Amino acid sequence: MIQVDSILTRIQERVRASPASYVHLSAITLVVTFLVMLLGAYTSAIGAGLSCPDWPMCYGTWIPFLHPDIVATSSYSPLQIFAEWAHRGLAMIAGFLIVGTGLGAWLCYRETVIVKWSATLALILLPIQVLLGGLTVTANLQPIVVTSHLGVAMVILLNLLTASLTSYLRQDTGRYAQVH
Ligand code: HEM
Repeated sequence: MIQVDSILTRIQERVRASPASYVHLSAITLVVTFLVMLLGAYTSAIGAGLSCPDWPMCYGTWIPFLHPDIVATSSYSPLQIFAEWAHRGLAMIAGFLIVGTGLGAWLCYRETVIVKWSATLALILLPIQVLLGGLTVTANLQPIVVTSHLGVAMVILLNLLTASLTSYLRQDTGRYAQVH
């Protein structure tokens, strides 16, 4: 237990020593989440919402393109399948980044209420968004589910923007405080 505490303290000291790394992490998370949203909108626009008919896998496999027969016999085009599959894949990467941004806020910006809670809210909304994404497919694009999926995405993005901007501004304050 004491060892875990000292490891956590060390991580905290390291992270606090370079707040710029948290600013970069939150900015990358913001951009990747925005890209996930654009890819989701594209998927919707080309009518590919159900081109992976199951969830979390796609045609019962993680990588449908390794099975040419699946792609060839699907009623959707390879581009449609790719768009939906890539949306899920990029969402997974965004998910890890959101977890990092949420936990990092508690290590690095514990005293900055806006950074801490906006990053935490994005983290809390993440599993809800993933569930809504799955429901989008399993409930056959039910309008209420698709609308909620878009709404929660916007709230996540807004919170990431707040965390990213505030941590950037606070970083300068921190430097000022260190010098004086
Ligand atoms: C960080 C996670 C995610 C974010 C921010 C996100 C965001 C979005 C956005 C903004 C759209 C466009 C909505 C519209 O234009 O009406 C969308 C569409 C979609 N998303 Fe996600 N998504 C995420 C995760 C997932 C996951 C894990 C799935 C799993 C299946 C998923 C499945 C879908 C589907 C099927 C559509 C197309 C809906 C349609 O055809 O209207 N999403 N997503």
